[in-house]
Amino acid sequence: MRIPLFINRQKELDDLKKLFQSSPNSIVFVYGPKSCGKTTLMLKAYEELSETHPQKFTFYWFDLRTKFISGYDSIIDLFFSTTDIKERTAKGAQERIAVDLKVFHVEKTRWEELKARRLDPFDLMMDEIRRDVEKGRRVNIVFDELQRLRDVYVAENRNLIDELFDFFIALSKVYHLANVFVATSDTFFIEEIWTRSRLEGSAHYFKVEWLDESEVRNFLIENGLSEGEADLVIEKIGGHPWALSELLGHIKGGKKVQEFVQQMLELAKAKVRTLLLFSDETAENREDVKRVLSLFVDRDSVEIGSLDEPSLYTPTIKFLCSKELLFYDPLDGKLMPSTKPILHAIREVLG
Ligand SMILES: Nc1ncnc2c1ncn2[C@@H]1O[C@H](COP(=O)(O)OP(=O)(O)OP(=O)(O)O)[C@@H](O)[C@H]1O
Ligand SMILES: [Mg+2]
Repeated sequence: MRIPLFINRQKELDDLKKLFQSSPNSIVFVYGPKSCGKTTLMLKAYEELSETHPQKFTFYWFDLRTKFISGYDSIIDLFFSTTDIKERTAKGAQERIAVDLKVFHVEKTRWEELKARRLDPFDLMMDEIRRDVEKGRRVNIVFDELQRLRDVYVAENRNLIDELFDFFIALSKVYHLANVFVATSDTFFIEEIWTRSRLEGSAHYFKVEWLDESEVRNFLIENGLSEGEADLVIEKIGGHPWALSELLGHIKGGKKVQEFVQQMLELAKAKVRTLLLFSDETAENREDVKRVLSLFVDRDSVEIGSLDEPSLYTPTIKFLCSKELLFYDPLDGKLMPSTKPILHAIREVLG
């Protein structure tokens, strides 16, 4: 994967590179609102490190968005390949970044033993990582969208996620062999894992924010927008990287900035209206959705702890986060609309 356009976020990039270089000691949850740029940032950090320190790093990289995992066999297919990495990348040479992003390599016979469950996949992974470490390489393992494995079981009553986290703790905190990075925008998933796998003292958070608005403003002006147009984009859309690259595409196609902004707001309003009208079977649930969204009519964010009887709101908050209308930051306990267009839409529809 090439990164076509990267609006500078130097501090986060430097911090992440430091984590990729650090001696393995913990699991890192890379989190932030949907589409804020987590994957792109991680790839950029990886790409820069590979350029400045060739041969120094091994990255095992699992992008779960593109995988369908249903049971033991597909788990083995996810982690292992019998094809050598060089062979695979020769075929897909257009993807320069794929060169060192690998899954675990096994001989054909071992692969068959794995599939027949005569070998423990975690033992094999650990062996390969040890070999990398012995060669003096810093090993990082990245799981992008790990929540997609939430309901996968390796055997009856054995959840894959729980097994994985035991393994991650062994790799990082216990044997100091690899850093483990887990990226997700589903922060309730992180909280669930944190409690269930008893991660206190073994894991920490790395937040990816929306792009810095003053950087975005400069970027827009460099790309030919007037001051007024740049202000409008910042006010209505903010540092939303996906929207910004779409905006540039629209401008190239001859569309006006105002038109694009309006379109984003209309889309956001449609999303809010749809949820208000159709969210769930009962009128009562719709009232809950309305009550929670109304919290943002006159403020940008709320601390969940400051709500009267927060537990009454919890199912609706979780529901709205799962629909990507809201984002919950587990570090400061704040809940907010997931994007600026959604914030404006809530105000227009409910204000
Ligand atoms: N720093 C950046 N500069 C320019 N474009 C960016 C930047 N970061 C991300 N993008 C673009 O924004 C879009 C979303 O980015 P990305 O997929 O990295 O977000 P994400 O947080 O991983 O999203 P998700 O929550 O869906 O996993 C992509 O189209 C990407 O190319
Ligand atoms: Mg992503």
